[in-house]
Amino acid sequence: MDTLTLPRPDDWHLHLRDGALLEAVAPQAAAVFSRAIIMPNLQPPVTTVEQAAAYRQRILAALPAGSTFEPLMTLYLTDNTPPEEIARAAASGFVHAVKLYPAGATTHSDAGVTDLLLCYDALAAMEEHGLPLLIHGERTGPELDIFERETAFIDDVLQPLLDRHPRLRVVLEHVTTAEGAELVTGDDPRLAGTFTPQHLLYNRNDLLVGGLKPHYYCMPILKREADREALLEAATSGHPRVFLGTDSAPHPQGAKESACGCAGCYTAPIALSLYAEAFEAAGALGRLADFAGRNGPAFYGLPVNQETVTLERAPLEVPASYPGGDAPVVPLRAGETLAWRLRQP
Ligand code: DOR
Ligand code: ZN
Repeated sequence: MDTLTLPRPDDWHLHLRDGALLEAVAPQAAAVFSRAIIMPNLQPPVTTVEQAAAYRQRILAALPAGSTFEPLMTLYLTDNTPPEEIARAAASGFVHAVKLYPAGATTHSDAGVTDLLLCYDALAAMEEHGLPLLIHGERTGPELDIFERETAFIDDVLQPLLDRHPRLRVVLEHVTTAEGAELVTGDDPRLAGTFTPQHLLYNRNDLLVGGLKPHYYCMPILKREADREALLEAATSGHPRVFLGTDSAPHPQGAKESACGCAGCYTAPIALSLYAEAFEAAGALGRLADFAGRNGPAFYGLPVNQETVTLERAPLEVPASYPGGDAPVVPLRAGETLAWRLRQP
């Protein structure tokens, strides 16, 4: 197979940032994706519908003329999110989900949730209004090994949460472990999972062996090879509730290549090529269209995009960096050649 046509894909987990960086990266995402679920971990975080509306306008203003890219906004859940804000979000028409960052789990998560019991009323309102909870699934705490945070979250936090809120719809985002993959490909219709290109292609050796590679560093951190294999199997399984979420997370070059480097892989402009590489390696290119273009809209109750894109087997040179506004942004696979690229219209 040398070409593959699929519905124009959506990204169900994308960081666009703000200010000059937003202006630089929004057109790059919009060149690939039709819609994207936009992460709310700005500083300060997007906790209200009013803030989400203003952020949405800044995103739309950063798009090239004529772009039809649609930002699907999210609210950042805090210990104090009022249930009334959830009702407003559900009524807004442009807020599509609420994001849970456990406090301290990752970039800009300081305002995140310290104890989900404090969010009982907000979560009950989400059940009532059918607004999904998008979860950064890592338990935090100084005693927890960084490689065990996701499995600890699933056992200690996620299962009790699903028991307490039987109608809550949940997306376990950027699944990184075999346990997570098994959970989201089970038969619980409330649960879906997103998979990043880096977690389908790489394991922790790629990050750490032969020198520390900061552009492979993201949260949740890359895991063992057995986990990667389980993730690839889940993503290519044809299960209806697994879909594309890049977690493309741009940081200025200096913040990544640093003695205390930020977590996040920048992949939006090359994400489709990376997913094609992973799906081809699994012998499952034929399943990419559902993963990238159909399963996500079905979970969110949105129409599948009518427009199509074509991937072709042709070399794509990944630049050393992209302009990022104030400083360059180095993508994953910078300077390498990828085997698949999007055919330009
Ligand atoms: O690696 C990550 N980067 N993981 C996250 O959860 C957040 C993201 C970011 O905002 O940079
Ligand atoms: Zn993210």
